[in-house]
Amino acid sequence: MRQKLVVANWKMHGNLASNKQLLEAYIANLSALKNVGVVVCVPYPYLGQAQSMLQHTNIAWGAQNLSKDPVGPFTGEVSAAMLKDFGASYVIIGHSERATAYCESDENIATKFVQAQAQGLTPILCVGETLIEREAGVMEMVVGKQLDTILNTYGAAVFANAIVSYEPIWAIGTGLAASAEQAQSMHEFIRGKVAALDKSAAASLKILYGGSVNPQNAVQLLVMQDIDGGLIGKCSLNAQEFEKICLTAA
Ligand code: 13P
Repeated sequence: MRQKLVVANWKMHGNLASNKQLLEAYIANLSALKNVGVVVCVPYPYLGQAQSMLQHTNIAWGAQNLSKDPVGPFTGEVSAAMLKDFGASYVIIGHSERATAYCESDENIATKFVQAQAQGLTPILCVGETLIEREAGVMEMVVGKQLDTILNTYGAAVFANAIVSYEPIWAIGTGLAASAEQAQSMHEFIRGKVAALDKSAAASLKILYGGSVNPQNAVQLLVMQDIDGGLIGKCSLNAQEFEKICLTAA
């Protein structure tokens, strides 16, 4: 049985004072929760704050990106080892808000994935299709291709220590979440694709759903067989809403 996992993606929100309040509320609301993992992915500058506030709690923390290179003259980049220095255990990779705006290729994303694992970080790999691709019925082909770059280069076993997050681009920040059936169907496809190469990696792989998850729709989504949790944007900035989603997962 895969334990559910709820990951907050704060994106580019917050400041020292507001983060302190929000993390205090997370700790107060979520510390006693059993049967669910909780992670918060913060902007780079606040990793130290997350570390000092969360280190003795059951809430883990991580970043929203990392460099594909381990070290070197790459101005503005942040390496996996630097994230580890601040106690991070997770890192989001290939989020569509980055992939489009910063032209991240599938190859770059695959390199980041193994860089993260090389330092003992768990990558949270985001995949998902655009609305046009869904309407054209090619969503599985699109998501399949996003996974193929990693599967073909590094094999399926790397998914034993990774998380995939299905985030249809049309559902992110729009208030229009995928239906539980749409999400389950894609999650089943993703697990099947890994299972075709490595059954045990597929069985342990956590596949999260992200895109306009809120306390209301979390109930339908999180009961689905292949939905192992959520990657939460907007609602993670509200302590009460985030708590409700975590409670539902638990
Ligand atoms: P929203 O929950 O705001 O739609 O964001 C989802 C997301 O992008 C999580 O990574």
